Amino acid sequence: MFSTSTISFLALAALVGAKSNPLDANLAYRSPFEDRPHLGYDTRSIHARIAKRQLSNEFTDEHYPTWYGADFSNSPNIYNGGVNFTHSVASGDPFDTSVLLWTRAVPIGPAPDQSVPVCVSFGIWTTSALSGKPVDAGQAFTSYDVDFTLKVEATNLKADTKYWYQFADCANSKTVSPIGATRTLASPTTSAKNVNGGKPLTLAIFSCSNFPFGFFNAYSFAAQNTSADIFVHLGDYVRYLSATSIGRILSDRELATISDYRTRYALYRSDQGLLTAHQNHPWITVWDDHEVADNTWKAGSADSNDTATGCQFSPSGSCFTDRKLVAVRAYHEWLPIRQVAADDKLRIWRNFQIGKLLDLTMLDTRNYDRDLTNVYYNTVVNTVAAFGNRSIMGFDQENWFYDTLSASQKRGATWRVVGQQIVFSQLNEGGACAPLKDAWDGYRANRNRVLSHLYDNKIDNTIILSGDSHANWVSDLAHPNDTTAYDSATGKGAIGVEFGGTAVSSPSPFGAGILPGPANNISAKLIAINPDLQWSEGSYRGFYTLALSEDTATATYYAMRNLSTPNTDGFASATFVVKAGQNRLSRPVAGGAVAAGALRNINATTP
Ligand SMILES: *[C@@H]1O[C@H](CO)[C@@H](O)[C@H](O)[C@H]1NC(C)=O
Ligand SMILES: *[C@@H]1O[C@H](CO)[C@@H](O)[C@H](O)[C@H]1NC(C)=O
Ligand SMILES: *[C@@H]1O[C@H](CO)[C@@H](O)[C@H](O)[C@H]1NC(C)=O
Ligand SMILES: *[C@@H]1O[C@H](CO)[C@@H](O)[C@H](O)[C@H]1NC(C)=O
Ligand SMILES: *[C@@H]1O[C@H](CO)[C@@H](O)[C@H](O)[C@H]1NC(C)=O
Ligand SMILES: *[C@@H]1O[C@H](CO)[C@@H](O)[C@H](O)[C@H]1NC(C)=O
Ligand SMILES: *[C@@H]1O[C@H](CO)[C@@H](O)[C@H](O)[C@H]1NC(C)=O
Ligand SMILES: *[C@@H]1O[C@H](CO)[C@@H](O)[C@H](O)[C@H]1NC(C)=O
Repeated sequence: MFSTSTISFLALAALVGAKSNPLDANLAYRSPFEDRPHLGYDTRSIHARIAKRQLSNEFTDEHYPTWYGADFSNSPNIYNGGVNFTHSVASGDPFDTSVLLWTRAVPIGPAPDQSVPVCVSFGIWTTSALSGKPVDAGQAFTSYDVDFTLKVEATNLKADTKYWYQFADCANSKTVSPIGATRTLASPTTSAKNVNGGKPLTLAIFSCSNFPFGFFNAYSFAAQNTSADIFVHLGDYVRYLSATSIGRILSDRELATISDYRTRYALYRSDQGLLTAHQNHPWITVWDDHEVADNTWKAGSADSNDTATGCQFSPSGSCFTDRKLVAVRAYHEWLPIRQVAADDKLRIWRNFQIGKLLDLTMLDTRNYDRDLTNVYYNTVVNTVAAFGNRSIMGFDQENWFYDTLSASQKRGATWRVVGQQIVFSQLNEGGACAPLKDAWDGYRANRNRVLSHLYDNKIDNTIILSGDSHANWVSDLAHPNDTTAYDSATGKGAIGVEFGGTAVSSPSPFGAGILPGPANNISAKLIAINPDLQWSEGSYRGFYTLALSEDTATATYYAMRNLSTPNTDGFASATFVVKAGQNRLSRPVAGGAVAAGALRNINATTP
């Protein structure tokens, strides 16, 4: 049984302040799709449900203290049985004066009546000891509706500043979460040289974690062994695939229900490396296909035979659109991401203006409005790959993207960093490895439109980030097969650079567990037939960092040696410099030497 203590009326009323419905303060509920109520949480109806049951005679449980806060007075009870902050804390989508804070507060012991919300308070401070008055504080409710996740916005913060935060159970204030560290971004008008207090701003860039294939050492290495400021995730943060290579067993079930997706996030977030990385740094994330299903496009995936005309197949009996809806819900519950448009939870494409140093433009080339992709048996994608009426992101997003690139140049930002899912540059496999058909190569006209927008408008200093492929690829950006305007040896004629990153733990497309020697042979063959490709590496799992200053962008690739235990045994495998204004990799590429992979014109020295 729970204790029957009541919390102080005055203390609560004072803390709640002007913030109204404490359900609305929890952004995890914010999926209104207001014109389509069946597609979202309607906090008014949750409020009404809570109030109705609690005020009716049927509600006889007296074991909850009374909630007197603000306009929630119709709902007098909150849960008082004790909570467990089961998945530590996280933060994300920092702006110059605010950041999102995340936790999960699960009732301990017997589950509460579903009409009783859990109340969680938060505070944010400028010191790691949380001393003095918090800069911002508040309360919010969570409930089983959102898997007891909680996402609040801490506001009134100073730009470009480090902060520490903590959550507590409102009803038992001694029950607190771990302390998290986060930061804000520079204001959009801050001069490039003053961003991050004049030090280079470092992004750590990840994709593709696969729980049973390896411990998430890339996350812990980045958190503990680099000076990364912001963690950027390009998707495939979770996936369904089952395997047992390191003995971390997964249920074999294709994800289909809300419970499946939530359980999968809860499992992935039990990895200590991932928990450490979330606790200590703000993240900026986008999803790829596996947050929904394999090789998704706007109306289907490789795991379903749904078509525009309807639902034809699902391994679980639920249609693709239903799966996509619950997948999107679970993503917004578990990731510290802002909802960009109140009536469109599917829109996660958004832009961050980080001083005049850069625009970080995050795209959704996957789930938003992508035309048909390769789902293995549909050879028609080879025929349609070059059709001008195909888009990888939908024409609304495309137009926004071009406008955002132009606006970034116009406002005088030095760099345009584009975080997106899949490999952008052309990759002819020439039989050297399995075809990677689900990339921009299937949307050639869209790729040409991006390149033409950059060339025609003389937009400098664009850096495209990509994930999805489970291997490392570094290329100059140029029109595919253009060996006239673009010179592969000098980089002359390029319009930017692509940094493609390997997986946190998903297996190599060159073959799971492939050793560096054979992988480098494959890389060398690919480099020989792809003029834009300057470095390829397919053996190691890992991540890369991108350090940006007014005159230089430096990408450092990190390789993790062993994923069969949690460890930070990693090394820098290659470093690439891009000088502002040059729109290509500095020559000699990677300083002429790499510790893994194959470099154009130079053979790698494998450690
Ligand atoms: C709290 O959650 C953690 C993580 O799921 C679990 O290991 C622990 O046993 C839970 N503690 C209680 C008291 O329920
Ligand atoms: C990474 O940091 C941890 C914690 O400081 C340290 O124990 C470990 O030796 C470091 N690893 C490497 C490869 O430097
Ligand atoms: C979908 O249909 C194609 C063609 O009929 C078939 O080859 C494929 O196996 C089906 N996929 C699933 C998941 O049922
Ligand atoms: C898309 O373009 C192709 C090639 O021009 C054309 O055959 C096809 O009919 C177009 N599809 C639509 C829906 O307009
Ligand atoms: C570039 O050339 C290769 C080899 O001839 C060809 O397979 C590919 O389709 C070409 N790419 C484009 C975009 O035309
Ligand atoms: C790489 O390829 C060369 C020639 O094709 C071959 O002789 C060599 O054994 C290969 N190396 C590895 C490690 O597979
Ligand atoms: C990884 O480390 C474990 C434990 O030290 C060891 O048993 C295993 O052989 C290592 N794996 C590789 C591929 O080196
Ligand atoms: C790289 O190694 C290959 C054999 O694998 C050799 O043919 C080639 O000449 C080497 N290239 C350089 C630049 O040393």
